[in-house]
Amino acid sequence: MANSILKGKRGVIFGALDENSIAWKVAERAHEEGAEFVLTNARIALRKKDIFTLAEKTNSQVIAADVTEISELEDLFTEAVQILGGKIDFVLHSVGMSTNVRKGVAYEDLNYDYLEKTLDVSAISLHKVISVAKKLDALSDWGSIVTLSYIAAQRTFSSYSDMAHAKAVLESIVRQFGYHLGVDKKIRINSVSQSPTRTTAGAGVSGFNAFFNYADAMSPLGNADADSCADVCI
Ligand SMILES: NC(=O)c1ccc[n+]([C@@H]2O[C@H](COP(=O)([O-])OP(=O)(O)OC[C@H]3O[C@@H](n4cnc5c(N)ncnc54)[C@H](O)[C@@H]3O)[C@@H](O)[C@H]2O)c1
Repeated sequence: MANSILKGKRGVIFGALDENSIAWKVAERAHEEGAEFVLTNARIALRKKDIFTLAEKTNSQVIAADVTEISELEDLFTEAVQILGGKIDFVLHSVGMSTNVRKGVAYEDLNYDYLEKTLDVSAISLHKVISVAKKLDALSDWGSIVTLSYIAAQRTFSSYSDMAHAKAVLESIVRQFGYHLGVDKKIRINSVSQSPTRTTAGAGVSGFNAFFNYADAMSPLGNADADSCADVCI
């Protein structure tokens, strides 16, 4: 149920690829709650075109940006502030990708070039996003930044491979930058550790069904679906 809790808030939402994406559900809920935001994703993801349906539905604009490229993030935040008419109150970082996982590379034989890419896209990118936005003075005081994590940051899930390392680094950035942004600008940074969810990124993990069923059986209330995750993010 919507209560306009984000009325008047401006945001940037990273990671809506298609209607299964966690970012897609968050964008729908943020719209219901009265927020205005810009949607962003990598150019290659925009070619899938689904994001423009979401943009129409949520009355938002789409800006292409590779989350690992500083100059593209600078352009993104500069344009977002212009389009939305003021500083950004919230950022959703819902981005992840591992070529090692996608190509089924065995953990013992990790491709280290792929590993660097995994860490850059899935973890260091959060640092880049925050650092760029802060340097541009694009973030409102008392704002909020949310990113998506997974329990493999703390526990062993063999098929999650190098994404486990990325999530551990991601959560560390949340804590470290959380200190600096909290002290400087009263901005909170939180990571939401989501259950296995059938999305493009999620289903790319080998043995996803076993993964999904195990987590479902282990959790007193079962797996949280993407809509429940969106509620928590909101
Ligand atoms: N699905 C799950 O089971 C699950 C569980 C816990 C956490 N998560 C996390 O949730 C987040 C969102 O994933 P999802 O499950 O919605 O899958 P998804 O595939 O829908 O979203 C991942 C997004 O990352 C984007 N992306 C990849 N490389 C990028 C780049 N270089 N620049 C900009 N964007 C880029 C993709 O285009 C895509 O939109 C990820 O951080 C993922 O690790 C997912």
